[in-house]
Amino acid sequence: MSSDSGSPPAARPKVAPLQAVRGMNDVLPDESALWQRLEDAARAVFALYGYRNLRVPMVEPTALFVRGIGEHTDVVEKEMYTFDDRLSGESLTLRPEATAGIVRAAIEHSLCYERPQRVWLAGPMFRHERPQKGRYRQFHQFDVEALGFAGPDVDAEQIVMLARLWRELGVADGIRLAINSIGDAHERRAHRADLIAHFERHHDLLDEDARRRLHANPLRILDSKTPSMQAMIAEAPRLIDRLGPESRAHFDGLASALAGAGIAFEVDPRLVRGLDYYNRTVFEWVTDRLGAQGTVAGGGRYDGLFEALGGKPTPACGFAIGVERMILLLQGAGATAADAPLAYVVHSGDAAGTLARSLAESIRDAGHAAIVHAGGGSFKSQMKKADASGARYALIVGEDEAAARSVSVKPLREPGEQRAVPAREVVDAMTPASPMRATE
Ligand code: HAM
Repeated sequence: MSSDSGSPPAARPKVAPLQAVRGMNDVLPDESALWQRLEDAARAVFALYGYRNLRVPMVEPTALFVRGIGEHTDVVEKEMYTFDDRLSGESLTLRPEATAGIVRAAIEHSLCYERPQRVWLAGPMFRHERPQKGRYRQFHQFDVEALGFAGPDVDAEQIVMLARLWRELGVADGIRLAINSIGDAHERRAHRADLIAHFERHHDLLDEDARRRLHANPLRILDSKTPSMQAMIAEAPRLIDRLGPESRAHFDGLASALAGAGIAFEVDPRLVRGLDYYNRTVFEWVTDRLGAQGTVAGGGRYDGLFEALGGKPTPACGFAIGVERMILLLQGAGATAADAPLAYVVHSGDAAGTLARSLAESIRDAGHAAIVHAGGGSFKSQMKKADASGARYALIVGEDEAAARSVSVKPLREPGEQRAVPAREVVDAMTPASPMRATE
């Protein structure tokens, strides 16, 4: 209906705004600066050790995770986002972790049969867990894998690399390392039988839960909190004490490599991890500063996964860092990151607008960020936006400045007078201490 008919435009029905899916978070620009700082540091550290980036799809055949992670794990039993492809009917799953997809890709492209490969990827993972601080349904990982390496030297290399990243980020003091060996499959079978025998000898001490689990999952009894069972649990046979000579030598090799590198660690015989593909080395980096969700990175060796997924035998080791947990840790340590521009250019009038845009280009030529005000408005309202942008300087270009090819430079973050400088000297006039400052 045309507006000159005199009747008011028909009111649109009010629409309720939609919200993000529970447990899946937006990362807004103010917070994103810290994410970028973490991402930059991780990329740089991985590159120092020769790890190269690879990317695999976020959706894979469900069977990949069932076979790779294990049918009886929490992740596969309860937490996967699984759906049928509408056309093919194939069952697909949003990746709950990256290792299975990377191994699938390595087998598909014969990536590491000629020579071993060090790779990493970054991206979102999906698990239908109950959301709480540090635990989300879409979360992000840095996932790092060394494919085709059998010795404990590469296990140690990855741990040393993580220690460097923690130092780089300034959080080394708040995170401790726990390691364990869960041996090879036959050692785990023998240990399981020993465990059941031990618990059966103390059947009268077992609570109802433990009796139920005795044959299905005796390892879980070790996690029991029942006070009257603790002494008996403490005496239960420990897998780490019963490793065969090869697993033992592997573990000792790792421990001495870590000691040689000056990395402190504790051996935690209870550390088993929640995914079924591991053997021998498992490790976690844990902090006390995040409450219940204190594991910021975890990983280990998975020498049998290639074969389980149809590939040739290929020993491998890897880990993943939980990005959201690292961000919480960094925020708790008072870390900040600013991506504010060096200059915000305010202007009024056509000639001033042209000069403002060319000034901004010359600032960018020198490697600094500059924002040119868009959308008009008074100088006063433009200056408010300059301030809100976090810029270190406002550059003011009016008709007079445009005619004289000069610009007024006003410091916004430190004391100092506004002063007029020739347009071609504007970069020098702002003399930042270091070009990196703008992105730190
Ligand atoms: P993961 O222990 O399941 O291992 O996850 C690694 C890290 O991801 C955890 O330590 C934690 O920081 C983070 N994380 C896990 N679930 C969530 C969640 N729901 N919300 C927020 N953060 C979470 C793996 O995923 C293995 N693929 C690691 C690996 C690589 N092993 C060998 N290679």
